[in-house]
Amino acid sequence: MDKIVIFDTTLRDGEQSPGCSMNLKEKIEVAKCLEKLHVDVIEAGFAISSPGDFESVSTIASTVKDCTVASLARASVLDIDTAWDAVKHAADPRIHLFIATSPLHMEYKLKMTEQEVLESAAAMTAHAKKYCDNIEFSAEDATRSDWDFLVKVVDAVIRAGATTVNIPDTVGYTTPAEMTALIQYLREKVPDSDKAIFSVHCHNDLGLATANSLAGVQGGARQIECTVNGLGERSGNTALEEVIMAMRTRPTVYPYETGIDTTQIARASRTVYSIIGQSAPLNKPIVGRNAFAHEAGIHQHGVLANKQTYEILTPESVGVQTNSIVLGKHSGKHAVDDRLRELGYTLSKEELAACFEEFKILCDKKKTVTDADLEALAEHRAVSKDGEDEKGYKLDWFSVHTSNFTTATCTVSLEKDGEKQEDVCLGDGPIDAAFKAVDKIVQPAEHTFDIYNIHSVSQGKDTLGDVTVKLMSDGKTYTGKGLSTDIIQASITAYINAVNKLCAATEKKED
Ligand code: KIV
Ligand code: ZN
Repeated sequence: MDKIVIFDTTLRDGEQSPGCSMNLKEKIEVAKCLEKLHVDVIEAGFAISSPGDFESVSTIASTVKDCTVASLARASVLDIDTAWDAVKHAADPRIHLFIATSPLHMEYKLKMTEQEVLESAAAMTAHAKKYCDNIEFSAEDATRSDWDFLVKVVDAVIRAGATTVNIPDTVGYTTPAEMTALIQYLREKVPDSDKAIFSVHCHNDLGLATANSLAGVQGGARQIECTVNGLGERSGNTALEEVIMAMRTRPTVYPYETGIDTTQIARASRTVYSIIGQSAPLNKPIVGRNAFAHEAGIHQHGVLANKQTYEILTPESVGVQTNSIVLGKHSGKHAVDDRLRELGYTLSKEELAACFEEFKILCDKKKTVTDADLEALAEHRAVSKDGEDEKGYKLDWFSVHTSNFTTATCTVSLEKDGEKQEDVCLGDGPIDAAFKAVDKIVQPAEHTFDIYNIHSVSQGKDTLGDVTVKLMSDGKTYTGKGLSTDIIQASITAYINAVNKLCAATEKKED
């Protein structure tokens, strides 16, 4: 079977889309999940775009051992030099440069002629090649480019040393038949086409990203660019989980292999959603809560008689556990540890002890603790806890008064270094009042709210409320997490968690 290279761009194309920004710690957490998934290439960021991006690309490059690490660069000397500086310590570095090739982009964005674009593509590929063997070239907006001009560009960059040539459907405009034909055309017309791997990078504006990527492979592409949960600009990019499971479920149609460990898909999906403070739409393929649920009577009947009647892939194959053992207040640490491992979480001794403490508290509030609750506890540990948070403020107690005919009031008491401070504020609702009271005590640096998001972890009115707060200050993101059956408490905890991180960063800057 032909091998398909899986190039993950969750940390670049995914992260650059609104509401999906991640800080360094979060990006490293995602990179670890990608390594466990066994993706071939991690595009860690766009090194020149900001000092923060440079730092995260270079940290991921020196942390990740089993995947190629790439940085994006425009076709310019400074971009390429910066990309190389960021990835040069990787076990297997790649420079990924791009320039647009469509008439629209060349005329209105680049203000360059075809000849200038052609020369720049070749010259900049050759420049990148001086640093590193592994060079990817992307023809941005390829699917709206003139096919014969693309042949010239692809020919020139392969001659200049590109080892992967990516044909992006930048605006999600193409169709499957067109994508197959375009890749076939390029492979036929470019004289040295066998010297590079062809790649597809599809956006999902018409909901065709997965179909277009698979169609590209049928035309001869051997790399797919994708993101976990399909994160990405506008309607997103090709979802990793969809292309992988399509190939795995229909091997006679798609006789290709990848190195992906599909049992890590659910875990990776949850981590990415938890970090960006969102949850999967219920009906999202592969990773949505209903992806393996059979509610309709006729379906249930069929599934009970033979699972294959309505199930084309098993939940276990993507790491979703269905043999749910109910955990409760009599369950011991070992049972919790075993279950977490089955769900894809290996915690250190200290992490497990802390998680078990939280589990016991939860057992007093809920009769049974579900897998979703346990996953939420583990995710919170991974994303919210760090040294900064441990040293910062903790919620001692809070009290709110709110009604539909009075202004909400909140009093909070916070504790830091053994000292307690109390303050009270009015607000537009209890959350606003609570956050203002926290601000009066902590006095964090100026910031804006990027995200305040709350979702329920499971069904039922005793569900945990999972709150994510993302604050932006000085171009950086500070994420706070809170988890409680009381959504006001979860919100206050999340806000304190985020301002602790902001305060620690402000103190470091002042030192
Ligand atoms: O969508 C696109 O064209 C891109 C390129 C930079 C690869 O993301
Ligand atoms: Zn893209």
